[in-house]
Amino acid sequence: MTGAVFAGRFAGKVLVVTGAAQGIGRAVALRAAAEGGRVLFVDRADFVSDVAAEAGRDAAAFTADLETWDGAHAAMAHAADIFGGIDILINNVGGAIRMRPFVEFEPAQIDAEIRRSLMPTLYCCHAVLPHLLARGGGTIVNVSSNATRGIHRVPYSAAKGGVNAITQSLAMEMAGQNIRVVATAPGGTEAPPRRIPRNAEGDSEAERAWMAEVVEQVKQSAFMRRYATIEEQAAPILFLASDEASYITGSVLPVAGGDTG
Ligand SMILES: NC(=O)c1ccc[n+]([C@@H]2O[C@H](COP(=O)([O-])OP(=O)(O)OC[C@H]3O[C@@H](n4cnc5c(N)ncnc54)[C@H](O)[C@@H]3O)[C@@H](O)[C@H]2O)c1
Repeated sequence: MTGAVFAGRFAGKVLVVTGAAQGIGRAVALRAAAEGGRVLFVDRADFVSDVAAEAGRDAAAFTADLETWDGAHAAMAHAADIFGGIDILINNVGGAIRMRPFVEFEPAQIDAEIRRSLMPTLYCCHAVLPHLLARGGGTIVNVSSNATRGIHRVPYSAAKGGVNAITQSLAMEMAGQNIRVVATAPGGTEAPPRRIPRNAEGDSEAERAWMAEVVEQVKQSAFMRRYATIEEQAAPILFLASDEASYITGSVLPVAGGDTG
């Protein structure tokens, strides 16, 4: 289910959704478009243009590597160029690349986790601010994780702790300029098989075993003892993005079946 639930909720709004080619970002972007928004689907995977095409004529796609300063700034500039401004940014790019006990991580692997799950949000927040200020205000929704308390992905946990810090500090700094900054912290979420794997090198046998331990820890940490659906993650992201959440800023909303991360 990615269709409209609240018809017209995003009418007149321009949204940028990062990591929109698959998973949670795809669902958020398609539903925002179905609810009346003009949406730029941003991803580094080329097939993001096919996904944007599903959304119809008020959507467009942009390919960029958001782990780079230039990619983040080019994506925001493109949205403002084709849609005349930006109202809402959903920073969804991220995701743990490898599951392994911290002692097993190599330096390059630690850096890769920080680049994937912290830098796109940091760069995109910086890149979007001039566009939101030009509009007289706007909203940033960051997609964090309950993995700020969890096993076998400490570098990713640290990156998402950074995302929470960006959310609170930037919200404090920008509140006087009518800019809200909020986040959700998803728990484990069922997804269809990924067209783009998190780990391009493929998981080793040991990593698959450590992943099984993570799944068990995540389920045990949730009161509900189950994973979320993608739609259960998209819905609170879009609530926080909407004017219904106009008095919420600096908050990180756990969406993890009772786990608070
Ligand atoms: N799926 C879960 O169980 C879960 C749980 C907690 C938090 N989250 C968070 O939710 C968000 C989405 O997760 P998902 O499982 O849907 O992700 P995913 O890995 O299925 O998809 C991520 C998308 O981002 C794109 N992407 C990755 N790096 C990029 C880059 N440098 N530049 C541009 N695009 C890039 C990928 O191409 C892909 O389309 C992430 O931030 C993740 O940390 C997910």
